[in-house]
Parts: sequence; C-alpha cells; structure tokens
Amino acid sequence: MKAHVTAHARYVVAEIDNRLYGSFLEHLGRAVYTGIYEPDHPTADQNGMRRDVIDLVRELDTPICRYPGGNFVSAYNWEDGIGPKEERPTRLDLAWHTSESNQVGIHEFADWAKSTNIEMMLAVNLGSRGLDAARNFVEYVNHPGGSYWSDLRKKNGRADPWDVRLWCLGNEMDGPWQVGHKSAAEYGHLANETAKALRAFDDKLELIVCGSSHSDMATYPQWEATVLDSTYDQVDYISLHMYFENYEKNAAEYLALPKKLDRYIGTVGGVIDYIKAKRRAKNDVKISFDEWNVWYHQRKNDAKRVKEWGWPHAPALLEDIYNFEDVLQVGCILNTFIRRSDLVRIACIAQLVNVIAPIMTVPGGPAWRQTIYYPFQLASRHGRGTALHLDIDCPAYDADIAAGVEYLDIAGVHDSDTGTLNFFAVNRNGSEPMEIEISIEGFGAAKSVAHTLIKHDDLEATNTENNPENVKPAKAKGAKLSGGKLSVSVPAHSYSMISV
Ligand code: AHR
Repeated sequence: MKAHVTAHARYVVAEIDNRLYGSFLEHLGRAVYTGIYEPDHPTADQNGMRRDVIDLVRELDTPICRYPGGNFVSAYNWEDGIGPKEERPTRLDLAWHTSESNQVGIHEFADWAKSTNIEMMLAVNLGSRGLDAARNFVEYVNHPGGSYWSDLRKKNGRADPWDVRLWCLGNEMDGPWQVGHKSAAEYGHLANETAKALRAFDDKLELIVCGSSHSDMATYPQWEATVLDSTYDQVDYISLHMYFENYEKNAAEYLALPKKLDRYIGTVGGVIDYIKAKRRAKNDVKISFDEWNVWYHQRKNDAKRVKEWGWPHAPALLEDIYNFEDVLQVGCILNTFIRRSDLVRIACIAQLVNVIAPIMTVPGGPAWRQTIYYPFQLASRHGRGTALHLDIDCPAYDADIAAGVEYLDIAGVHDSDTGTLNFFAVNRNGSEPMEIEISIEGFGAAKSVAHTLIKHDDLEATNTENNPENVKPAKAKGAKLSGGKLSVSVPAHSYSMISV
C-alpha cells in the first residue's frame, strides 16, 4: 500500500500551544495515594512524594496538570486539604464511593507540580458548592497577602502565591452522574457569575467552562450553545471530554473513532462561531479537551465493584492495562489534536498515574511505563512548534463511524527553532505495510532522517510490572531522503515518528 503526503512551509494550521500535551490527576483510586504520594515508599522525598514517579512524569514532559478532579471535585471542600495534616478530616467521596483522607491538598500538589516541572490547572467545585467557595480558593492560591485567605496560606507555610492561570469552572456539569448536576441554563448562569467574580479578582485568569462530557450526550450540542450564550464574554475555553472503547475487539472500527473526535471538535467549533456571531462578540473562545484517553479495559468491572464495596481509601480503581493497539489509538488521537490545534489549544490525557494512566505503580514497589506512555511522550517532546496542514493521498476504508477512513493517520509539526520537521504516522492497516512518500517543500534542504518505530506483532501486548518493556519505541532503518522527498516504509499496524 502506498501513501503520498505533501508538507509545505506555507500550509500551516497554527502555532501549537504546548498545553496540548497536558495531563490530569484526580483524587480517585490510587492516582494520588500510592500513585504520586507514598511517604513510606523507598524513593519518597521529604514531602512523601515518590521520586520514581516524579522521574517518569518529568520524562513525559507534560507541561500542565489538571487537579483535583474530575467527578471528585463536584463534592470537594478544598479547605479540607490545608493546615496540619493530623487535623484534616476524612470525608466520604460521593463520586467514587471511597474515603478521602485529605493528606494531599493544594500545598502538597503544588510542591509536587514544582518538582515535575508542571504548571497547575485547577478546578473549582460548582456541583455541591458555588461562587463563594470558588472565589475563596482563588484568593488562597493567588493573592500575595493581607487578606483572610492569603494570610491563612502564609500561616500554612506558603509565603508566595502560586499564581495559577488556568481555572476550570466545575466538571462535566451536563452529566446526571455529577454531584450537583445542572441544566445548561442553570449551569450557564452559575458559571458566568463565578467567572465574573474571579475576573473581578484578576481579569487575566484563563477560565474554562464545561462543555459536553461526550458527544453522545442527549443534550449535546445544545448544551454548548446555551452555556456559551450565558458565558461567552467571560470565558476563554470550553471543555470537552471523550474516552475511547473497543469492547467489540474490532481494530478497524476502533481506530476509526478519532474521526468521531474530529467531528466533535468541528461541531463545537461551529457552535462557538455561531454564539460569537450571535453576541457580536470580539473575543475568541477555544477548546480545552481536558479529558481524553482509552477507557474500557476495566470499566464494566469497576462499575460493579464500586456498587459493592464500602468506603475504602485509595482502592485500585480504573486501572486499565493498555495494550499495543492502544498505542495506535493514542497516536491517532494526538494527531487529531495537532491537526485541530487552531481550535484545541489545551488537552489533558486522563489521567497520569494508576487511573487510566500512562504510569503505573506498585505500592511499596516499582513504577513502570504503560504502552501508551510512548506515543504521548514522543508527541509531547517533539510535537511542539507549528502544526502543518498536510496534503494526504492514500487508500481508505469505510467504518461504521465514518466513511473514507485513511489507512494512514499522519500529523506534521515544524520546530522553527531547531529546523526539525516531525511526522507522527499510524498505519491503521493490519495486513499490509505502507510505503509513505513525503514531499517536503519550502523548508530548505533536509540533511538527515530518523525513524522511531513502535511495533508489536500482538495487538494485545502489554507492559506489566514483570515485563515493563514489552512494547516500546526502537530506532528503525531504511528511511531515505532524496531530492526533497522522504520515503519510509512502515509495518502493518504500527506507530512511527519520522524526523528530518
Ligand atoms: O477520568 C475519570 C472520570 O471521567 C472523571 O472523574 C470524570 O470527569 C469523567 O467522567
């Protein structure tokens, strides 16, 4: 099978916002406790944070992390997580039917974020609480001093404000499962009033309003229209979420799902344009795709377990073990975000550690990289710069979700600082390799080519505690450059990064 691609220096989508490679950490399962925080662990630092996990997070190079939820945030009292640890209350977490010890709160998370080179992206509770708790939290986090909440932060050991720029106005407020779920009109009103109050404190904050939890919600896309009509002047981003499933074990259908993601982004882009025109607005609202990942390996099992248990503290929950097929899916999802980076400015893989995550830990034991760690790392490290609008000519197949799904899923990014062009390519075809020819135009003469390949003969291959490097990238040979043309052969069902 052959594919022809043209990359031209003048055909660009956008300058990518590095926050496209963001992540997410919720007080859920073992994400926080025995994930990032385990004071008794042999690698624990002075704050009780696992240094082995910090190292893996740093290598992933994710610039922002959304915290503390997720569904958890909709019944969370942020004040429970401040002050002396021994005085912090244990609360029942209604979202996941667990107990929350509050041993990690904003101070601990902020210290951890600093040690991982991550900028915090915080969510406020607009489910069980509202404007007042939100504005107090922002004052605690961002005000230098001389007020009740900022002085309390100082008393609790942090002199300087953290100056967090990105704030999520609640989480998945369209979902009936959400504590304090609201109609679009109710939520739009509350989000707008909360945004106004936060802007009265600091009009440079970047505010994110909740869009739909996924594009199959009955209220989608009217939810976006109603909520944006109420909040358009006050917000910078609308948040979208999507999780990918392959219960049928049908690789062709599964790998076609990013077409649905692309449609979702396009539709919400259209709703944004409509509301902008309707309101005669001058400002732009963009998309924060702040929850995305594969989530199905343990999902049904977990749904049953949550109903059966009492209120355990930090039980194993949502611990999907990813396979090689998921590498291809994560590659296609990230490629979709790169191709749509004019609209999608922020995106967060959900989540980061133990809970539907690229990084797994054993309590008291090792940490390791799941299969999906690698396509995320390659894109996060090398997919920064200008997203290119590629012209692609290749055979396609018809799937249930969309007709004309190209066998080659490819995105290109030009880093003008280093002059490097990186192409991220997934061969969706499981039975044939693909000869890819890329015409490189207007970038100046390329001198060398490198091909990094992730391939395994078994789609179900996983990385586990005892076999942590079963699926990982390797250098591949054979890519050639000649007369402005790059040719490379990629195996059936494979992920590649080709750099020139
Ligand atoms: O990431 C897991 C959960 O998925 C989050 O808590 C929620 O926002 C979404 O439904």
